[in-house]
Amino acid sequence: MDKKDEIKKEIFKKVKDYYLLAHKKEDFIPGKSNMPYAGRVYDENELISLVDSALEFWLTTGRFARQFEENFANFLGVRYCLLTNSGSSANLLAISALTSPKLGKKQLKPGDEVITVAAGFPTTVNPIIQNNLVPVFVDVDIDTYNIQHKKIEDAISDKTKAIFIAHTMGNPFNLDAVMKIAEKYGLWVIEDNCDALGSKYKGKYTGTFGHIATFSFYPPHHITMGEGGALVTSDPLLKKLIQSFRDWGRDCWCESGCDGSCGKRFEMQLGKLPYGYDHKYIYSHIGYNLKVTDMQAAIGVEQLKKLPSFIESRKNNFTLLHEGLKIYEKYLLLPQAERNSEPSWFGFMITVKEGAGFTKNEIVNYLEQKKIATRMLFAGNITLQPSFENVKYRIHEDLRQTDRIVKDTFWIGVYPGLTDEMIVYILKTFDDFVKGIRSSHGPEL
Ligand SMILES: Cc1ncc(COP(=O)(O)O)c(C=O)c1O
Repeated sequence: MDKKDEIKKEIFKKVKDYYLLAHKKEDFIPGKSNMPYAGRVYDENELISLVDSALEFWLTTGRFARQFEENFANFLGVRYCLLTNSGSSANLLAISALTSPKLGKKQLKPGDEVITVAAGFPTTVNPIIQNNLVPVFVDVDIDTYNIQHKKIEDAISDKTKAIFIAHTMGNPFNLDAVMKIAEKYGLWVIEDNCDALGSKYKGKYTGTFGHIATFSFYPPHHITMGEGGALVTSDPLLKKLIQSFRDWGRDCWCESGCDGSCGKRFEMQLGKLPYGYDHKYIYSHIGYNLKVTDMQAAIGVEQLKKLPSFIESRKNNFTLLHEGLKIYEKYLLLPQAERNSEPSWFGFMITVKEGAGFTKNEIVNYLEQKKIATRMLFAGNITLQPSFENVKYRIHEDLRQTDRIVKDTFWIGVYPGLTDEMIVYILKTFDDFVKGIRSSHGPEL
């Protein structure tokens, strides 16, 4: 071992000691400790990997990013993974790539329509608008919170070119139906898999059905890099287009710090540039820079090793909550997995039923007072948001169920940081709430 390795080993040992001291989990005190809906789950290995990349000081996308991309693609069984700096960037890149003239007749052009849903995260929809395309909103089902797939075909017009939807809260949408319609009408399919890493449909991972899928590694997600995201595809042309839009719009595909991958760096003539202009500085798209740093990827490499246990834990926590809350089905609509699916849940969706005798706000306030964090289905109905005041969009039929979600739906966490003791506390808190409601309303409830 040379001197550098020796010092490194010492540093890593100190990092572990520090982790054990400074990152010690605090004891859970029911009703006193905050119970988050999600959060980072990690150990000393993430910290060591981060320090390893810091000592190397490569900083930009490098060996950790390459390792993550390879391992992630292998995990899912796809050809390519491209890291980016967030799930929102991944969504922006997915749609932007489809606007490339290199796609010929299949290029998305201003005014083209993209089928999506209004009940979800804003940055699934925003890239459609940012690319001068028109979102077409189809309503969702209230127990799966996914698109009403039977309505998709009727929502298609001669301008429709793509379907871009999320697997809501980890629950896969009906991929059989969506892929069949897409094939029939020649539509692109982008799966927003940001909340569904590890979910399966008919035994196959979500994110591997559509032309492109996107992922988020923001802390509440299945694995984290702090900030981070990824796209996967098995299509070499789409991979090249995504990479170009991600890396300044350039035509060249050299990795950072690398030259001449194409083998003809000074032997090309593109655009109106003179022959031999350096390929490194030729731009075929109006691109961005949405690359990830190697420090982020270094954390991801360690998180990915934990992914199988995270998925199991999310499934387990979901089952415990579902079994425990079943007795309140008179008041609460519990989430249902899509048929033929095995969701790797992001959260536990709950809709307060009509005639429950209490409102969503009442139960949410009660849970929050008892330190149990709650969340909404993100934007709820995005068309009601202030950001949408001057946006061009089309609603297919109506958004009746989406509006019900705005009024009656919330969710609580299932993340791997929850212990059995915490789940017992959650169930007891629901019990206390319902008992309180019953005693104030009388026995008819
Ligand atoms: C479905 C969905 N898509 C996209 C995103 C955006 O991901 P990020 O926060 O990494 O930008 C999120 C964020 O949580 C999300 O839930």
